[in-house]
Amino acid sequence: MHTRISVVGGGYVGLVSAACFSQLGHIVNLIEIDPTKVQAINQGRPPIYENGLEEILLAHVGKNLTATSSYESIPDSEVVLICVGTPQAQDGGADLSMISSAARSIGIALQRSDGYHVVAVKSTVPPGTTEHLVRPTVMKCSEKDANAIGFVMNPEFLREGLAVQDFMKPDRIVIGSSDQMAGDRFEGIYSGLEAPLIRTSLTAAEMIKYTSNAFLSTKISFSNEIGNICKRLGIDVYEVMKGVGLDHRINPYFLNAGAGFGGSCFPKDVSALIHLAKNVGEDPALLNAVVEINDKQPMRMIELLEKRVGNLQGKKIAVIGLAFKNDTDDARESRAIPVIIELIQRGAKVAAYDPQANSSMSKIVPEISYCANPSDALEMADACLVMTEWPEFSYLDREFDLMKRKVIIEGRRILSCKDAEGICW
Ligand code: UGA
Repeated sequence: MHTRISVVGGGYVGLVSAACFSQLGHIVNLIEIDPTKVQAINQGRPPIYENGLEEILLAHVGKNLTATSSYESIPDSEVVLICVGTPQAQDGGADLSMISSAARSIGIALQRSDGYHVVAVKSTVPPGTTEHLVRPTVMKCSEKDANAIGFVMNPEFLREGLAVQDFMKPDRIVIGSSDQMAGDRFEGIYSGLEAPLIRTSLTAAEMIKYTSNAFLSTKISFSNEIGNICKRLGIDVYEVMKGVGLDHRINPYFLNAGAGFGGSCFPKDVSALIHLAKNVGEDPALLNAVVEINDKQPMRMIELLEKRVGNLQGKKIAVIGLAFKNDTDDARESRAIPVIIELIQRGAKVAAYDPQANSSMSKIVPEISYCANPSDALEMADACLVMTEWPEFSYLDREFDLMKRKVIIEGRRILSCKDAEGICW
């Protein structure tokens, strides 16, 4: 059965979800306020770098997938998905202003409809948001009967770079619903995907998302702490974690020690969960430690660097890898940012290179030089810091011979070059 779906918000979650639901055969309208994004999507050009997305857009745009800036498709949509951003607010909590305004616009648009609709939140929101913010806003603005609209919370677990794959082959699908019918109707849009599906309350679904991201962040900070101890003891933390991860109760994933976690999700979601805990009178000691370890980790790169090359004033330092991880052009909260800022403050001349993220990093830190290839960054450099786990960096070899001194420090375990020293190994 094909469902008419409107997706509000054309960021990476909204766009990937819209594209993948169209791939599953549904009729999808993606509502995005930025007209340049709308135009690009309607021409089959994804405004973000995401594996496999362009192929889906080219196959479905103009057929069962359309991007638009208007809310006109909402009254005809059986399911409306809210996929707008929930950035970090000043106080560390989640900024829900875009959720509020999406809920208002959806409610107003639904005034013009007669049928039953499900409004689902896919954005990451604190427990209680769907019930106490989205539901009353939509109901008030739509002026409908309580049973005309059902509410669902359906968290996303998409990794940037692998988002299409994660959508099509999920580990699980979580559907929190206000009532049985809303959940049943919503479940239908995932038919065609094989995955365990769990039905929960709205608040449990919201909490599952924060808890998943907090747990993965904890695994990383834990591995980094063990890595820092291993470094002092002269033990290779990767050998250790291989032995640890083979225990099926632990599993081998997200145990890669390095310069810490970045991106638009983990730092913001852990911070929002800490904020939430404090608001209900809990002291989240473990989560605080996860953040503290993550904040300190990049500075270890600078300490190792200074130990090897001394005062950084006037030294040329190549920073290889700027994206917050490989396979994305996203530099948000990249661990390269605090490292580069510290290098600038200590008077170093930074030559940076990333296969995809030069442009996004230059908007965050414009004052350094950006290179078109690793060789330009490495030429006559006093040292090199590797900050992203791009697989292609494992082929770097002769390029390091261009350096003035072969001081290479890895913040991610990726090089095959023998001269590299690791942050925790
Ligand atoms: C993360 C989650 O993995 C997704 O499940 C979730 O849906 C998404 O956030 C979200 O909330 O929207 P993403 O931010 O794309 O996805 O990135 P990850 O692949 O999880 O990596 C996050 C950071 O952790 C990167 O900086 C990466 O380098 C670092 N990392 C990851 C490590 O330092 N060690 C590891 O072992 C794994």
